[in-house]
Amino acid sequence: MSKQTLTITDNRTGQSAELPIEHDTIPAIGLRQLKVQADDFGMLAYDPGYTNTASCKSRITFVDGDRGILRYRGYPIEQLAEESTFLEVAYLLLFGELPTAGELSDWTARILSHTQIHENLVDLLKTFQAGAHPMGVLISAVAAMSTLYPEAKQVNDVDNRLLQIWRILGQLPTALAFADQNRLGRPRTDPRAGLDYSANFLHMMGLTRQADGEVDPVLVRAMDVLFMLHADHEQNCSTSALRNIASSEADPYCAVAGAAAALYGPLHGGANEAVLRMLAEIGDTKEIPAFLDRVKNREVRLMGFGHRVYKNYDPRAQIIKRVAYEVFAVTGSNPLIDIAVELEQHALEDDYFVSRRLYPNVDFYSGIIYQAMGFPVEMFPALFVLGRTPGWLAQWVELVTDPEQRIARPRQIYLGEAERAYVPIGERG
Ligand code: CMC
Repeated sequence: MSKQTLTITDNRTGQSAELPIEHDTIPAIGLRQLKVQADDFGMLAYDPGYTNTASCKSRITFVDGDRGILRYRGYPIEQLAEESTFLEVAYLLLFGELPTAGELSDWTARILSHTQIHENLVDLLKTFQAGAHPMGVLISAVAAMSTLYPEAKQVNDVDNRLLQIWRILGQLPTALAFADQNRLGRPRTDPRAGLDYSANFLHMMGLTRQADGEVDPVLVRAMDVLFMLHADHEQNCSTSALRNIASSEADPYCAVAGAAAALYGPLHGGANEAVLRMLAEIGDTKEIPAFLDRVKNREVRLMGFGHRVYKNYDPRAQIIKRVAYEVFAVTGSNPLIDIAVELEQHALEDDYFVSRRLYPNVDFYSGIIYQAMGFPVEMFPALFVLGRTPGWLAQWVELVTDPEQRIARPRQIYLGEAERAYVPIGERG
C-alpha cells in the first residue's frame, strides 16, 4: 500500500515537511513547521470563504456536489422526501438512525408538547412594529428564549440538551406564526392539539384553505417535504456560524439565533425571497433574454442559481419543482412558475451558466410554492429557518460531543500598518 503522507518542500529553504493524509485531508497545523527563521510563526493556509477547508469530521449529511447527491445519515434525500416526515427526519439527523414506531411517537409527542410559547415572549413579539421583517423578529425571539431558559447554558448535560431541542423545535413555529399574525394586526391562533408539526404550523398561520377550517392535506404534505429538503446541508454558511458560536459553549438559543442571522442574507437562505422579487421584476417571459443579459453583464445575479458545492442540478430543486405542481392543483397556479421554468431553460442553454456549472438551487422554486400557499414573500427565509433547525441542532450536538473540537478561532494575514506612535489630534495633518 502506498504511503499515506504528503511531502511538501518549502523552496525558500529547501526544508520538507511530511504530513499524514487521513480522508484525503492533511492537518493544517502540520504546515506550521515550515519556517524561514526559527522564530517565524510558521506557514498558514489562506482560504477566504473556507472553500477548501474541512472544519470538522461529521457523520450527519453527505453532499456530492459534482454528482448532485444529498443524503442524511446515508439515506438519499429523494427517498426521505417520498417516504418520511419532517419530524422523523429531525430524529434521524439528531440520533443517527430512523426511529422505531415507539421512538417516533414519543419524539413527536415531546416536541408537540412544547408548542406553547412563554407569555414573556408573546409580550416581546407584540413590541415589533407593523411590517417588521420576520427574520429580524425570529432571530430576536430565539435569542430571547435563552433568557427564559437559563439552564440551557449547561451544554454538556445530555438531558438538558434534549429538553432545549424539544423546546426549540416545538416553539419556533409558534413564535413565527404569532409574529406574522401580530404583524398583520390579527389575533394569535394558538397551537392545536392533535395536529402534526406542519399541519399545526399552517393552522397557526391561518393557511387552512378548506371551507371547514381544516388544513388541506396536500399542503401539509408539501410543507413537510419542503421542511425535510431544508433540514440539513452540512457545513454551509449558517451551520458554520452556528458551530462557531457553539464552540464557545454559548447556549443553543443564541447559537441558533446567530445561525438564523447568517441564513438571512440573500446569498444564502434569503435567496428564496430574492428569487420571488426577481421573477416579479422580470414580469413577463418576453423580458427573460434582456434580464439574462444584465446577469451576464454582472449588473445583477440570477438568484436561485449556483451553489458553492453543487456543480450539477441541486437534487432538492428537482423535488421542489415536482411539489410545486402538486400544490398548484390545490391553490391554482402561480403565474411566476412559467417565468421561472423558461428562465431556467434559457440559463441552462446559455454558455455563461453552462461554463460556470450554474444550476437551479433549492431556492429557485421554493418561493413560488410558498407564495401559492399564501405565505407573504418576506416570510420565506424564516420558513428555511424552520426547516434547517433540526440540522443546526444535530450539528450542535455533534460539535459539543466531539473531543477534537475547540473554540473556533481562525488566523489572519495581517497587512496593516507596522507599529507607529499615537499622534495627538492637534498635530494631525
Ligand atoms: N448569477 C450569476 N453569476 C453567478 C451566479 C449567479 N447566481 N452564481 C455564481 N455566478 C458566477 C460568479 O460571478 C463567478 O463568475 P466568474 O468566475 O466569472 O467571476 C462564478 O459563477 C463562480 O461563482 P462564485 O460567486 O465564485 O461562487 P460561490 O461558490 O462563491 O457562490 C453562491 C455561491 C450560491 C453564493 C452564488 O452562486 C450565488 O450568489 N447564487 C445566487 C444566490 C443564491 O441562489 N443563493 C442560494 C444558495 S443555495 C441555498 C443555500 O444553501 O443557501
